[in-house]
Amino acid sequence: MGILFKGGTVINADGKHRVDVLVEGETIAQIGADLSPDGHQVIDCAGKLVMPGGIDVHTHLDLPFGGTYSNDDFSTGHRAAAFGGTTSHIDFVIQPKGGSLHDGLATWRKKAEKAQIDYAFHMAITDLRPEVLEEIPSMVDEGITSLKLFMAYKNVFQIDDTTLFRAMKVAAKHGMIVMVHAENGDVEAELTPALLAAGKTDPIYHSHSRPPEIEGEATNRAVMMSGLTGCSLYVVHMTCQSAVEALSRGRALGYPVMGETCIQYFFLTAEEHLGAPGFEGAKFVCSPPIRTKHDQEVLWHAINRGPLSIVSTDHCDFWYEGGVGPYEEWAANHPNGDWHEYEAQDPTYRRPGKERGKGNFAKIPNGLPAIEDRMMVLWHAGVNGGRMTAERFVEVSCTNPAKVFGMYPRKGAIVVGADADIAVWDPDKEHTISAKTHHMVCDYNLFEGMTVRGVPVQVFVRGKQVVDGDQWLGHNGYGKFIPRKPFAPII
Ligand code: URP
Ligand code: ZN
Ligand code: ZN
Repeated sequence: MGILFKGGTVINADGKHRVDVLVEGETIAQIGADLSPDGHQVIDCAGKLVMPGGIDVHTHLDLPFGGTYSNDDFSTGHRAAAFGGTTSHIDFVIQPKGGSLHDGLATWRKKAEKAQIDYAFHMAITDLRPEVLEEIPSMVDEGITSLKLFMAYKNVFQIDDTTLFRAMKVAAKHGMIVMVHAENGDVEAELTPALLAAGKTDPIYHSHSRPPEIEGEATNRAVMMSGLTGCSLYVVHMTCQSAVEALSRGRALGYPVMGETCIQYFFLTAEEHLGAPGFEGAKFVCSPPIRTKHDQEVLWHAINRGPLSIVSTDHCDFWYEGGVGPYEEWAANHPNGDWHEYEAQDPTYRRPGKERGKGNFAKIPNGLPAIEDRMMVLWHAGVNGGRMTAERFVEVSCTNPAKVFGMYPRKGAIVVGADADIAVWDPDKEHTISAKTHHMVCDYNLFEGMTVRGVPVQVFVRGKQVVDGDQWLGHNGYGKFIPRKPFAPII
């Protein structure tokens, strides 16, 4: 017996069609008009849209960062993602300093044992010793075809230009893609202490320590290195005009460069959100920072007309009011313990979060909750708001992610032979976003109070239903690692 999605409108990046979709086992077996329901479980899709499950190519689940760990892990983050229509994601493995890429991979494989949806990994290089340079090609055999290098976070993840250049040369040879967090971390490391010394310690000053110029400069540097090495480049979380212009110049020169933005950058501004009264602005601290209304318009234009190809989230959530309970004492007695273990002792305990940076914006853990809301908010503001077509919505949130990162056509489209990752979308249903009802482990929501129209009502991962309205049907361990292919296209 298969599952027949009957009577809906299938939306792919290249068009909309009133067709039925038959799933057998984990894959899509047949697509056509009026397929026979005989012997199948029928999902009535009348009045609904049938779309590929979303792919979020930029997430940080269970990431040690900012003196704590991001809240959502490969269980809670997956559930939240699927409630928002996202059925796969790519998380960043972090190479431990002094360790190998495989050491990092082993740690992330362990984290992912409880996966509920499908996932893949990018490999973030933090320490490119000669033996690590030699290790890079072996990542392709592991199904990891993208490397990440941070041009920011000095003394934490930041690499220098030599490292970026060397990594790009090796990556180009093996058809891998290099991703960069493009901000000039050396300049930021000069600006931050000066601001703090001048008594400028509130969350808003985080954005003063990371002005758009340092993003534009670093983006341009990486783009030029792509031109020099021929290495495919993907600039993550682009926020502003100077960065978008640097990417456009590279593309006009024929360099193999691409970029994404993240959902939050279309909606939040430094002035309103980071500058909120008291310590509220900490909720919105991420790097690069949220910018201006003008930059938002630049991003909407760039995602529709180029040069941007993908909308992701950079999901990396922290409590606003964390650090509850004797966690320091616990951590001292459990050097290898994880925060979930600590919190499991008593649900009122919380790992440290944004409150770490009260009186010092530089100590606020950088990152935001968004994995659940990306598609609903983009649909509402983008498609309902007349800013993008439904096809472009699928392209930037499902199809391009699969193509750019070597998963297409297994993922990212409703086509015969693809994994049956399907979101049945009710275009008329309204939902008011709130931390009170979301599934992310976080005590606030970026889009609190926003009413969206158009939400996923049934979600399937490889033919298994995981979401039915408000009900969760998935389970730990169902999610599979997606090995990815090298030499993916430039979109
Ligand atoms: O603020 C952010 N973006 N946190 C997550 C780490 C990163 O830079 O992507
Ligand atoms: Zn980043
Ligand atoms: Zn990130």
